[in-house]
Amino acid sequence: MSVDFKHILYGGDYNPNQWPEEVWEEDMRYFDKARINSATINVFSWAKIQPEEDRYDFEELDKIVDLLSKNHKDIVMATSTGALPAWMVRKYPEVARTDYDGKHHKFGQRHNACPNSPVFQKYSARLAEKLAERYGHSDRVVCWHISNEYGGECYCENCEQAFRKWLKKKYETLENLNKAWNTEFWGHTIYDWDEIVLPNALGDGLWDGNTAFAGISIDYRRFNSDSMLANYVGERDAIRKFDAATPITTNLMGTYKGLDYFKWAKEMDIISWDNYPSYDTPWSQTAMCHDLMRGLKDAPFMLMEQTPSQQNWQPYNSLKKPGQMRAQSYQTMAHGADTIQFFQLRRSVGGCEKFHGAVIAHAGTDNTRVFKEVAQLGGELEKLGGQILGSGSAAEVGIVFDWDNYWALEYTSGPNKDLKYVDQIHQYYRYFYSRNIPVDMISREADFSKYKIVVAPVLYMIHKGVAEALETYVKNGGILVTGFMSGIVGESDNVYLGGYPGPLRKMAGIWVEELDALAPEQKNTIQFADGEESFCNLVCDIMHLEGAETIAEYSSNFYAGTPCVTKNCFGQGTVYYVGTQLEKAGLEKILDTVTNQASVHSLVQETTALEVAVRRAENCDYYFLMNFSGEEVSAPKAFADKIDILTGETLTNQTVFRPYDVRIIKMQRQTDSRQ
Ligand code: GLA
Ligand code: ZN
Repeated sequence: MSVDFKHILYGGDYNPNQWPEEVWEEDMRYFDKARINSATINVFSWAKIQPEEDRYDFEELDKIVDLLSKNHKDIVMATSTGALPAWMVRKYPEVARTDYDGKHHKFGQRHNACPNSPVFQKYSARLAEKLAERYGHSDRVVCWHISNEYGGECYCENCEQAFRKWLKKKYETLENLNKAWNTEFWGHTIYDWDEIVLPNALGDGLWDGNTAFAGISIDYRRFNSDSMLANYVGERDAIRKFDAATPITTNLMGTYKGLDYFKWAKEMDIISWDNYPSYDTPWSQTAMCHDLMRGLKDAPFMLMEQTPSQQNWQPYNSLKKPGQMRAQSYQTMAHGADTIQFFQLRRSVGGCEKFHGAVIAHAGTDNTRVFKEVAQLGGELEKLGGQILGSGSAAEVGIVFDWDNYWALEYTSGPNKDLKYVDQIHQYYRYFYSRNIPVDMISREADFSKYKIVVAPVLYMIHKGVAEALETYVKNGGILVTGFMSGIVGESDNVYLGGYPGPLRKMAGIWVEELDALAPEQKNTIQFADGEESFCNLVCDIMHLEGAETIAEYSSNFYAGTPCVTKNCFGQGTVYYVGTQLEKAGLEKILDTVTNQASVHSLVQETTALEVAVRRAENCDYYFLMNFSGEEVSAPKAFADKIDILTGETLTNQTVFRPYDVRIIKMQRQTDSRQ
């Protein structure tokens, strides 16, 4: 389904039920003033709508829907199943979760339902169905928002039984299962499906969420992700009984580890996500999350939540500085968002989020810095209209992101506990970001042939077909960049025997014999072919050439003189293998070589401290120029004489971008250079 909201949805979470009705009319006036055209409602109202097991009460929600409709606001209708009603937990304790330590929870908090509780499954789907029956026909309901930020885990009896069923379906026989889990290790042979227990602290789970059997724990993560996805699908299908057309989503969380979002994306009509960087999150990391969310469906996404000013749940909840929220919103659009929504529209009076920023502050006035900034942005988005909506990416570089690998890599016991998946991916992303080279974040199942360069760092687990697809890609002229901790295990976390990097060995033209680990205070020196020196740390592959050439070698430690970065010509393409964690400058040097070879260029010829990103429409490109550098930056020459579509201003050689300044330039395009 391709989703078209006609205009940029601008609004966010709105909880009028937390306020007396006199306030609602005032809200509408403020929304109009800020050009807020939509509201996300009913996110946590299950207890209100279903006060008892056999009674539903929609009176208040009807009023809210009427109010918003009368005021011409679009509605994102949530299903409310992200928090259980107290009566339900009291009557059916199974709906609550059992945690990693085996404690079964009472009523409290939110995101608290056991995904495998039949009671929860029944009542959540029923609620979604009733909502769809009542509001599905309304033209004002433009999107369904199922539950809220799915996540967490449950280790209860119901989940254990469901896990056994899931495993039976996957492995069919215990022989297959024992083999997959390598249960000869530590005498774990399973003779009866009922002997299988969940891998939490009472089972194979170790301290800090580690595990004695990664194969079991990875299966549990797949199962848990599937279980919650089944909840989503249950509600989605219930909605579809009464509403065939309105897009359905749930709000995701960027690189959140718990759920395989590529798998989820297949069931979602449109991706939406909640962007909450902290005060020190690099802008490149935020951009990477946006690109990942766009990549899930290779389509525009919704920014379902961001704070207009500050958060409450971080250790340090700094304010967004003047202009920052606006710039951040445009960064989101630049990387694929078709909506800009906030959490929340009015700041709550009580509960743990009363210090969370909102469009309308506790002062209850529009005379605040935050309100004025929200209103300014609202005016601009309204003027933009629908022109950017639906446009896509122009990337020639794909970076592989894979949840199975995320889980497997971080479950490894050894070689180095500091090896973190997202951090490894981000080191590569950051390079392209800093050079304004657009990137698609892609799955292991992506069509690699679309890209001049495919980057697959720490591709630790190689699924069936992936090595073959990469080989074909490279043989046909593609450039693959991979490196240490790649090609080590198959889908069940058992090692590919015969030398690392297993199925990648042939195309990389190397054999990795040993993996050294360096503690934080240690590093090795390396030397490039041109004599330049650099440092590396974390993990160091000790390898032999099998056809590849050396690009850099270690110059310290007992393996000095052996290769650490290699290049192998394979078919018509090339494989670069980076066998260690290079310091930033070293990685840049390698990737400069790679991008030169691939003729992959920055969106702007000259070096600039601005972030430049592009959205590609049918006949034109929208260039977003954004200043996150903290300093004044002059406009790149290529954009002199071009018009900023936000203000109508013509850029010149003298144009200066102050911190957080943004300009959007529309350029006509003759040919599609992506071909
Ligand atoms: C999440 C939730 C919201 C709210 C915000 C606060 O994104 O979805 O309900 O709690 O965090 O930042
Ligand atoms: Zn459970």
